[in-house]
Amino acid sequence: MTHAVSIEHVSKIYPLGNTEVQALHDIHLNFDVGEFTTVAGPSGCGKSTLLNLIGCMDTPSQGEVYIEGKPISKLGDKELTRLRLDKLGFIFQSFNLIPVLNVFQNIEFPLLIQGGFTSKERSDRVMELMDEVGLRAQAKQKSNELSGGQRQRVAIARALITRPSIVLADEPTANLDSSTGERIIDLMKAVNKSHKTTFIFSTHDPLVMKHATRVIRLRDGEVLES
Ligand SMILES: Nc1ncnc2c1ncn2[C@@H]1O[C@H](COP(=O)(O)OP(=O)(O)OP(=O)(O)O)[C@@H](O)[C@H]1O
Ligand SMILES: [Mg+2]
Repeated sequence: MTHAVSIEHVSKIYPLGNTEVQALHDIHLNFDVGEFTTVAGPSGCGKSTLLNLIGCMDTPSQGEVYIEGKPISKLGDKELTRLRLDKLGFIFQSFNLIPVLNVFQNIEFPLLIQGGFTSKERSDRVMELMDEVGLRAQAKQKSNELSGGQRQRVAIARALITRPSIVLADEPTANLDSSTGERIIDLMKAVNKSHKTTFIFSTHDPLVMKHATRVIRLRDGEVLES
């Protein structure tokens, strides 16, 4: 079966003044469909760099990233945008919600960008997800009136609204207290089980790590353990 994500001999080098930083060094990894994986390791080990490459937000210096078997370096701008809209969902450490929009509107937003849905279809999907993440009662609240845990639940619903096959989350619990963080990971895991969505998220929190079914440890841009 085709892997959800394959990374073949990927290196990433950032220019830095007159020198350069090697953030990733010859990484080789496969992620199966439906895996719930965390990328762990100390600050600067390359977690965000790896997630940005998988999310097609950056390109490797060497090697290739495949999403569902498609080599992303071979895709044009339009195809890449479409792939990101249709296949990938993103959850960020800082939630990245739109403050002037309420919970319903924040969750609905990606569907408006993706296009092709009636307002009824959009509303049905948003309602279903608000129930799933337990935010139906907050539908009309502005995102800046919510707690950190509630904001991250909105962000999870927003990442799932387009029914992506792969969800990427860069330290989704970093701005939450540890028990809220664990609840957020439990929610992600429930979604992973019920929708067979592949999850790849980073953390340096051991409490969060123990909820993952697979831990990839990075150190200085290399895979220590997978
Ligand atoms: N845009 C950039 N320009 C130059 N160097 C960068 C850039 N982004 C990251 N780096 C460097 O690449 C290495 C890996 O960074 P990365 O952000 O991937 O680490 P991380 O594991 O996500 O760290 P953290 O836990 O602090 O978020 C670090 O040495 C970092 O300084
Ligand atoms: Mg990072």
